[in-house]
Amino acid sequence: MSAADMGLADESAAPLVGAVVVAAGSGTRLGAGRPKAFVELAGVTLLEHAVSRVRDGGVRHVVAVVPVELVARAGELLGDRAQVVAGGERRQDSVAAGLRALPADVQVVLVHDAARCLAPASLVARVAAAVGPHAPAVVPGLTVVDTLKEVDDAGHVVATVDREPLRRVQTPQGFDRTVLEQAHETAGDSAATDDAALVERLGLAVTVVAGDELALKVTTAQDLALAEWLLARGRGD
Ligand code: CTP
Ligand code: MG
Repeated sequence: MSAADMGLADESAAPLVGAVVVAAGSGTRLGAGRPKAFVELAGVTLLEHAVSRVRDGGVRHVVAVVPVELVARAGELLGDRAQVVAGGERRQDSVAAGLRALPADVQVVLVHDAARCLAPASLVARVAAAVGPHAPAVVPGLTVVDTLKEVDDAGHVVATVDREPLRRVQTPQGFDRTVLEQAHETAGDSAATDDAALVERLGLAVTVVAGDELALKVTTAQDLALAEWLLARGRGD
């Protein structure tokens, strides 16, 4: 008889992981004439690329958050690979909508941009595995290679910034569900460009794990071309 059958909690059991894949943006900077997540890369939408890799990373329950007019279309594309809900005005609102749709038993939540469509399964698994009692929030980060300057309004350099402690942060970002829900509730109308920033405001620790260059965010047409090149060379999976 297993511990669960006996009604005992198995403390070593891995927590149930769910993911919110946000895809409700308009893709203004890409300028493809349709929302970015519905643009195709090698004949497959960015949304499907992202969801497939999240599932391959071991996540069983995925909520895809899309523009309201594309909920039905996303359902056709994703089938039983994801539940689909409508997003909000800001990215933060879309994350909140996805969070509300997650089943009650999901304890660890990954939040991922569909625009980071080639983020590999290994990165997804690394972030999920790093979330725990001592790491309620985990983000993937990469070092900075350029020299960084702080400039004033007139365009003059004020200082050269030490890049050594700086990281470029990506998604998926992983969270203890309760912490993420609290972070979003507390945020209210104040905006942030990622979910970890909302957790930082609660005064909680955010842990950085190694990121992956494949998790680049497709923002412009040049990024899309780069992603296409990576995929064609077998580096996108
Ligand atoms: N996103 C979202 N809901 C919003 C805004 C953004 O779900 N209201 C998602 C996007 O679909 C994307 C991710 O958040 O996967 C990162 O946003 P960004 O790269 O800025 O995408 P867009 O907002 O679509 O692009 P743009 O800012 O150029 O319009
Ligand atoms: Mg945007």
